Amino acid sequence: MKILILGSGGREHALAWKISQSPLVDEVYSAPGNPGMDKIGPCFDLDVTDLMAVQELALQIMPDLIIIGPEAPLAAGASDALRARGFDVFGPSQQAAQLETSKGFAKDLMQKYGVPTAEYGRFDDLTEALEFLETMNAPYVIKADGLAAGKGVVIAETLEEAENTVEEFMTGKFGEASSEIVIEEFLKGEEASIFVMTDGEGAIYLPVAQDHKRVGDGDVGPNTGGMGAYAPAPVVDARTLELVQATIVEPMLSGMAEDEMPYQGVLYVGIMVTEAGPKVVEFNARFGDPECQVLMAGLPGDIVPALLVCATGGLVSAHADLCEMMGLSDFKPSAVVVMAANGYPGTAEKGTVIKGVEIANALDGVTVFQAGTDVNDQGELVAAGGRVLGVTAVGDDLRMAISKAYDGVAAIEWTGGFYRKDIGHRVLK
Ligand code: AMP
Ligand code: GLY
Repeated sequence: MKILILGSGGREHALAWKISQSPLVDEVYSAPGNPGMDKIGPCFDLDVTDLMAVQELALQIMPDLIIIGPEAPLAAGASDALRARGFDVFGPSQQAAQLETSKGFAKDLMQKYGVPTAEYGRFDDLTEALEFLETMNAPYVIKADGLAAGKGVVIAETLEEAENTVEEFMTGKFGEASSEIVIEEFLKGEEASIFVMTDGEGAIYLPVAQDHKRVGDGDVGPNTGGMGAYAPAPVVDARTLELVQATIVEPMLSGMAEDEMPYQGVLYVGIMVTEAGPKVVEFNARFGDPECQVLMAGLPGDIVPALLVCATGGLVSAHADLCEMMGLSDFKPSAVVVMAANGYPGTAEKGTVIKGVEIANALDGVTVFQAGTDVNDQGELVAAGGRVLGVTAVGDDLRMAISKAYDGVAAIEWTGGFYRKDIGHRVLK
């Protein structure tokens, strides 16, 4: 079987690594991929939002399954274009991906299906938005409706700051993406990431992960794409997970199927575990990054059959077999520490030389996933993006997994980067 993966981050490297271990798979192709993915199979340099280029590549390779990693090609309609060409695709349609690409769309659907989430208002008129703010209490949560590279959410402590943010957003800060906004109630609690693989009808729940979004130790500083993660995250106990299934995932999947926009692929449910139970903070239409890295590292079995069934249908009847093939009940506790280039999440320094990846990879239980990396003219691995490496490890328990991940980090020689030293602090307490 031939599999094509679209994307170039740590998430896609982890998927390629896992998929390449399947006895069903002969070759893993990536576009555009990265130097880590290049060691697994051929990489093709292209813009994954260029639908013509993506279709041409698929027609050239004729893969048995195409996996769309990031949100940008989903937003551009890559899954629809590829399905129209007859390919099996793991990833939602452009319409269903609006769960991530339009916060207002997601909120309206949650309201329609009675899914617990923060109270909200949706606005394209500045005066109405400012009036609504007056009715809310601090802290104020303001969200750009569209994709804003992870910078579209502001939590304002004062009314003045909130008003300024609303004005900035609606007068063009993120262009079209913020001309419409959502203002919502602040939810108190601990966050967790739930990943559900689905064909639109059945659902496989992967172990719950927890991300570390802030750049600095102790959860301080600006938001990032995620500086580290671990799974399984004990913050979501069996009772909370039952509530997530019954009050969030099942109504969303059945509602969307009934509304003729079935959701296929992986649904990422960002929840806040509040005193009143789990509530949705956001949906994403893809695997989280770095969460995907711990999920792939910790799954002992073969994920390919489940990916295929999500793309083609039939999950309900195959559910038990797919979970067993994936080794879901033997998931190994897993942690990832992200190494980022100096300057991230602002302008990241490029071109600094990274050594020791092979040494880290040789450590027991450690796998280094690459993200923003490149190879220079001397053949050395260099930084080429914000988040650069995901040093991932499995262990007998989370404490051991985290400790091994940091052993891996210690083996990396890179003066141009930094990492958080407290990944997993909530479980190590
Ligand atoms: P989002 O892009 O929607 O995930 O928002 C980014 C981050 O802002 C989330 O991971 C939360 O930490 C925080 N956040 C978003 N919405 C809320 C909310 N209603 N209450 C509290 N925190 C929130
Ligand atoms: N790690 C958070 C995300 O992928 O959105």
